[in-house]
Amino acid sequence: MKICVLPGDGIGVEVIEATLPILQKVQKGFSLEFQTYPAGAQHYKKTGEALPEKTFEAARNADAMLFGAMGWPSIRYPDGTEIAPQLDLRFRLELYAGVRPVRAIPGIPLPLSDPRAKDIDLVVVRESTEGLFASRGKGVVEDDREARDTMVITRKGSERVHEFSFRLAEKRRKKIVTCVDKANVFASMAFFRRIFDEVAARHPGVEARHHYIDATALDLVRRPWDFDVLVTENMFGDIISDQTAALIGGMGMAPSGDIGDAHGLFQPCHGSAPDIAGQGKANPTACILSAAMMLDWLAERSGNPALAQAARRIEKAVDGIFQSQKLKPLEFGGSAGTQAIRDAVLANL
Ligand code: NAI
Ligand code: MG
Repeated sequence: MKICVLPGDGIGVEVIEATLPILQKVQKGFSLEFQTYPAGAQHYKKTGEALPEKTFEAARNADAMLFGAMGWPSIRYPDGTEIAPQLDLRFRLELYAGVRPVRAIPGIPLPLSDPRAKDIDLVVVRESTEGLFASRGKGVVEDDREARDTMVITRKGSERVHEFSFRLAEKRRKKIVTCVDKANVFASMAFFRRIFDEVAARHPGVEARHHYIDATALDLVRRPWDFDVLVTENMFGDIISDQTAALIGGMGMAPSGDIGDAHGLFQPCHGSAPDIAGQGKANPTACILSAAMMLDWLAERSGNPALAQAARRIEKAVDGIFQSQKLKPLEFGGSAGTQAIRDAVLANL
């Protein structure tokens, strides 16, 4: 299987370097061919191109994409926005479901002191092809007086992301999907909720709930263990998925997949982290767990269970190093940097 690797900027490069040897080691009953391509803010600075067409073609033709992180705060387009090829890939390849699971890993210190925090096991599904992000590159500032960005919610975009979320919940223990919206105020959000209810009616085995986005922000701190799958608009999902990452320790622990009907891209939830880039401090766990998600997705698409077995091996190896308390990431005040975590996972496979 061809894997298009896009390391990108900052710690994106570092966490990908830590992840590839792990993927090399678990190949039993399948084989992966890695091809690395340039894209990102530094590439834009050098060449004027953020996502070269050759890179895009390789991404489109690969069996899956493994992505580090892209963007650099001081490198911007003339309109002041940042270089973000991950957004271009989501839109152009219709990667409509941004899947962001969080699960408390034993041994990792949790910010919430309530003992139930160890039961946190939820997935945010962020609609990733429209919503407020439909306005990217199209927002207007009139006469330096007024600015406007427009939210777009379509029936097609909503149906597919809701359907995806219900199917995901069917495979999980709790089988609950919560539609997170602002249907009390916005027509677009009431429409999003109406389509959610239509899709819910087709999945009687899953409990469908509604939660407003502001109350969700509250309850994700007050009782996050009650949630299972949360499906939401692009911008809301962007925000609450950073919040849910914090619930299990931080950005270095949170994996993700950007999944469509034809393509899948897997990447840690975090960005390029300029504050720690180049120092060997990045926690590669999120990227390693994203690689496991990629193997699961490839297993489902190809029907080859060896890929799913490799994913379980990676997850067990990761859980094992933290559970044994032998090693604590720098991110949590410990001493383990990128290489130490990579080596421990490799040794534990
Ligand atoms: P960020 O996720 O890069 O960093 C936020 C905070 O979390 C920082 O303090 C950072 O040191 C820490 N952190 C993140 N990942 C970590 C890891 N693996 N180990 C230890 N600590 C980690 O978000 P920020 O600072 O807002 O954005 C930096 C750049 O990344 C920006 O240019 C932004 O546009 C871009 N970005 C790219 C994303 C992507 O490629 N998907 C996602 C988010 C931001
Ligand atoms: Mg974000």
